[in-house]
Formats: sequence, structure tokens, C-alpha cells
Amino acid sequence: MQLFDDHKKLFGTAFLFFLILSIFVVILPALDIQRNNAPLPGGRALSEDAEKGRLVFIANGCVACHTQQVRSTEMDRTWGSRPSVAADYARVRRTDLWRNTATLMGTERTGPDLTNIGARQPADNWHLAHLFNPRIVVKESIMPAYPWMFEIKKTPSNSDKVVSVPEEFLEDPQTKVVATQEALYLVAYLQSLKQAPLPDGRPLPQFLVAPGASIKTATSDEPPAKGPDGAQLYATNCQSCHQPNGEGLKGAFPSLKGSKVVLDDNPELQATIIMNGYTGRVSEGYGPMPPVGVNNNLTPEEVTAIMNYERTSWGNNGKKAEVAAIEKFIQSLKDKQ
Ligand code: HEC
Ligand code: HEC
Repeated sequence: MQLFDDHKKLFGTAFLFFLILSIFVVILPALDIQRNNAPLPGGRALSEDAEKGRLVFIANGCVACHTQQVRSTEMDRTWGSRPSVAADYARVRRTDLWRNTATLMGTERTGPDLTNIGARQPADNWHLAHLFNPRIVVKESIMPAYPWMFEIKKTPSNSDKVVSVPEEFLEDPQTKVVATQEALYLVAYLQSLKQAPLPDGRPLPQFLVAPGASIKTATSDEPPAKGPDGAQLYATNCQSCHQPNGEGLKGAFPSLKGSKVVLDDNPELQATIIMNGYTGRVSEGYGPMPPVGVNNNLTPEEVTAIMNYERTSWGNNGKKAEVAAIEKFIQSLKDKQ
């Protein structure tokens, strides 16, 4: 056959096949993937500090216990508002010439998933105390402490970020714990971890539900059959700072047990604090409280359930708040903004 005798024709034909195959098998799919998995418009690139914090996260092996992937199974619903999609990782680049891309998706979930930790726990005070010694804020925590990210000083300077650490966690109660730049970078990284909304029109991936189990879709806003459970809501939204016993942490988070705000017959300040956060006691050395209610989209029913749980727990004996009044009040707060 002439084709096999003429090397130009032979190589030409083979090359043409190669080109056509490459277009269909490599180039078109790559273009398609790039278009579909481009970084989400609602997400932001890491700030310079957060990027440095990412390297601290890698260096300290946090990925050994923490995932950053919300799987599409029902049990992962707590970790994000939707299952993760490939586009969530589109901004992840090679670490440097010598080190490969670190997606930090993780494979082991000894601790909670951190995909959305920036939304779940925005307070730097909390993160710093937790990194210095997790037992300060979570009594039963098995997470290791990272004391090398902190300095112990007798007289911190004005520019030092002092961490509120209860005395029993200090070797010498006369000293103060100061966060190093490394710790601040790491916290900036943790605070930056938030799920970006999917752009309009993109199909929202759903959590898979076991056959026969009750189906709750991510967009369903049906109220649950019985009223919300205040104790459960407190555990999810407030307990990490104010502690299960309501006593908070001296110097960091005020006690709700015996709190004037909680026991006040007028529930308005308490509801405002839950929705919009609080800075009324910053002069006493407390950090600001984040707007937990707004961040977590708490409904008036849920806010009232939390308020009444606080009013009747840990020896508190306050007058219960009414849903209707709180609903009206929260609406007036929103109108003001
Ligand atoms: C040996 C496993 C382990 C390692 C390593 C580890 N953690 Fe944890 N982490 C846990 C566990 C368990 C919890 C849950 C208890 C708690 O909150 O302390 C947790 C909780 C957390 C939380 C709070 C999550 C939430 O939803 O409230 C953050 C933030 C966190 N870890 C960050 C880190 C960072 C940053 C590192 C690395 C410097 C790290 N962890 C290393 C096990 C670990
Ligand atoms: C990230 C930590 C954090 C979380 C989570 C948090 N708080 Fe707070 N809370 C604080 C801090 C810090 C203050 C003091 C703020 C200041 O400086 O004025 C505070 C103050 C308060 C006060 C005022 C207490 C007083 O006597 O002055 C109330 C009431 C309160 N929080 C309720 C709640 C409720 C209810 C939730 C859950 C929906 C919650 N907090 C979640 C950190 C937190």
C-alpha cells in the first residue's frame, strides 16, 4: 500500500489522527472543566495573611484530623449549607516549586470539618484560646495544644494581642499569653474558610438521604413539627463560648448564669445581642460577640427558644419571652438596618 511506502503520508496521517483525538479527548474536556469549575464569583481569594496562615495549617499537620469537604451525605449537613463542589477548590494552587498542590480536603475527621468554620466561629478570641489549649473552651477536647504559637510575657506591650486564658491554664498566674504572628495568620486563615454561594442558575447539589428517611432539602423552610429545642440550639450556637454550664470563661466570655441581661424582664437587649452581637462590655476586657443570629439565620422562634433556655437554666429564673413579641422586635431591628 502506498501509505506504508511513503513515510511522509504515513506520519502525516498518524499526526492528523493524533490531533483530532487530542481535540476530543483532551482539549474540549479541559475547556469544559475550566468553564464549569472556575472559582465561584461569590468566593474570595485568600488575603495575604490568610495565605500565610494556610502554610501554618499545613506545617502543623492540622489536616491529619480536619477535613475541608462537605460530602453529599445527610450526616454532613452540619458542616455546610450545601455539599462541596469542584469549583470550591479552583483557587488552590501549587504551594511552591518544590511542594505539590495542598487541597487540604483531608481524609480523616477526628475533629469537625472546617469548610465553613469562618462562618460558624468568626471570633478570633475563641480561636486563639482554643489553639493555646483546646481544653480552655471545650472541656472534653482531644485536640492537641499548640503552645509554641504563643509567647508568655509578664508585661505585654500595647501592640501585643493578649489571649484571655483562665488562671488554671497558666504556669504562673502573673503572666499573660500573647499570640505570635504565626497564630494570628492561622486564625486569619480559619476565619477565611466560608462556603461561597453558588451562582444563580447553577443546580444546587443535594444531600443524599437514606431511603425512607424524612427528606429535608437544603432550600426547605418548613417549620419543624414541634417548636425548636432551646437546649439544642444553645449547644450549637452559643455553648462554644458561653460554655455548657452558662458560666462563660473569665476574661473572655461573660457568664449568662445570673446575667442581668438574661434575667431582665424586658427581653429586647437579650434578643438584640443574639441577633446583632454585642460590644457593650468591651471596656471590661471582653472581645466583641459576633452577630450569631444574623450569621446563622436564626428564626424568631429559634431566638425565643434560646432566650427561654437561658432564662430557665443553670439556676436562672427569668420571665419567659413570647415568640410574637420577639418576632415583632426582630423585624423592627431588621427594618432599622
Ligand atoms: C489529633 C487531632 C487534631 C489535630 C491534629 C487538630 N485538631 Fe482541631 N480539633 C480536633 C477535635 C477532636 C476537635 C473538636 C473538639 C474541640 O473543639 O476542641 C477540634 C476542633 C477544632 C476547631 C473547632 C471546630 C468547630 O467546629 O468548633 C478548630 C477551628 C480546629 N480544631 C482547628 C485546628 C487547627 C488549626 C489545627 C492545627 C494547628 C488542628 N485543629 C489540629 C482534633 C484535632
Ligand atoms: C464567639 C463567641 C460567642 C458566641 C458564639 C456567643 N457569644 Fe454571647 N457573648 C460573647 C462575648 C465576647 C460577649 C461580651 C461582649 C462584649 O464585649 O460586650 C457576649 C455577651 C453575651 C450576652 C450579654 C451578657 C451580659 O450579661 O452582659 C448575652 C446575653 C449573650 N452573649 C448571649 C449569647 C447567646 C444567646 C449566644 C448564642 C445564640 C451567644 N451569646 C453566642 C461571645 C459569644
